[in-house]
Amino acid sequence: MKVTKAVIPAAGFGTRFLPFTKAVPKELIPVVDKPVLQYVVEEAAAAGITDILIIISSGKNAIQEHFYPNQELERRLVATGKDEILTELRTIDTLANIHYIYQKELNGLGDAVLHGKTFANGEPFAILLGDTITTSDSSPVIKQLISAYEKTNSSVVALEEVPMEKVSRYGVVDGEDQGDGLYKVKRFVEKPSIEEAPSNLVIASRYLFAPEIFDYLEKTPRGKGNEIQLTDAMHAMLKEHDMYGFKIDGRRHDIGNKLDFVKATIEFALKRDDLKDQVLEFIKQF
Ligand code: UTP
Repeated sequence: MKVTKAVIPAAGFGTRFLPFTKAVPKELIPVVDKPVLQYVVEEAAAAGITDILIIISSGKNAIQEHFYPNQELERRLVATGKDEILTELRTIDTLANIHYIYQKELNGLGDAVLHGKTFANGEPFAILLGDTITTSDSSPVIKQLISAYEKTNSSVVALEEVPMEKVSRYGVVDGEDQGDGLYKVKRFVEKPSIEEAPSNLVIASRYLFAPEIFDYLEKTPRGKGNEIQLTDAMHAMLKEHDMYGFKIDGRRHDIGNKLDFVKATIEFALKRDDLKDQVLEFIKQF
C-alpha cells in the first residue's frame, strides 16, 4: 500500500528550550528564517506524503497560522512588489493537506502518536518528530524509510550512528545486518550505558509504522516519566511482528537541543548564497 500519510507530533512543552518555549512552540524555532516544522513538512511532501496530521496542544495555535494563508499579508507583499517572498509563502500552503488534532494532556510521545489512529485509518504511516530536521544528499530521509517499508512490508525506524560515548542518550538498536543499510531488529535498548549498549545505532526521529502499532499503543501502560512511551509499544510489537531499522543516508538536527540548534543555524546559513561569505567572515573573529 502506498504511503501517503504522516503524523507529526508537535504538542510537547519543549522544556529544554525554555524560556523561549514559554509562549512560542519549539517546533517554530527558526533555523535561519524558516521554522523547524516547515522543514519537516517539506521533507514529508518531498517524499510523496499528501496528508499530514500535526499533533498540537493548547498555546500552539501559531503552528496552524503558519500553514494557513494570510491574505492581508499577501496583499501587502503584492502592493510592495515583494514577489519572491510572496511566491515562497504561497508554496507553504500547498505543500500538503494539513490536519490538526489536540493532545489535551501531554502524556508522552506514545500518546501523541495514538491520536493519529483515526487519521491513519488502517494504512501504514510515517512519523516525523516536529522538532527535528533531517538532511540528506540523496533523498528525503522519510522517503528512504518508505522504500525500506516497501521492501520489507514491516515497520521501519530510522537509524543513525553516534559515537559510543553518546549512546546513553538514545534508544539503541540491537539488529541483524541485512545489507544495504537494513537491520532486522532483535531488541531496542532504551538509554543504555556504554557497557550495555548492543551497538551505536540509535533511533533517529523518523519512523514508518504498519497500522498495528496502534494496537500496542492502546495497551501500553505509563512508563518512564509517567508517560506513554512509543518505545514501550515498539518493544511489545517486536514480540509479535518483524521490525527493521534503516541506517539513513543523511543526518538529523535535533533543534530542541540548544547545541544542535546553534550548529544547524550556522550550517544552514553557510548553505545560503546570500549569507555564506558574511557568516564565514564573522566566524573568523572567534
Ligand atoms: P520531546 O520529548 O523532544 O519533546 O518529544 P518535549 O517533551 O516537548 O521536549 P523537552 O524534552 O521537554 O524539551 C519529541 C516530539 O514529540 C512531541 C514534541 O512536541 C516534539 O516535537 N511530543 C512530545 C508530543 O507531541 N506530545 C508529548 O506528550 C510529548
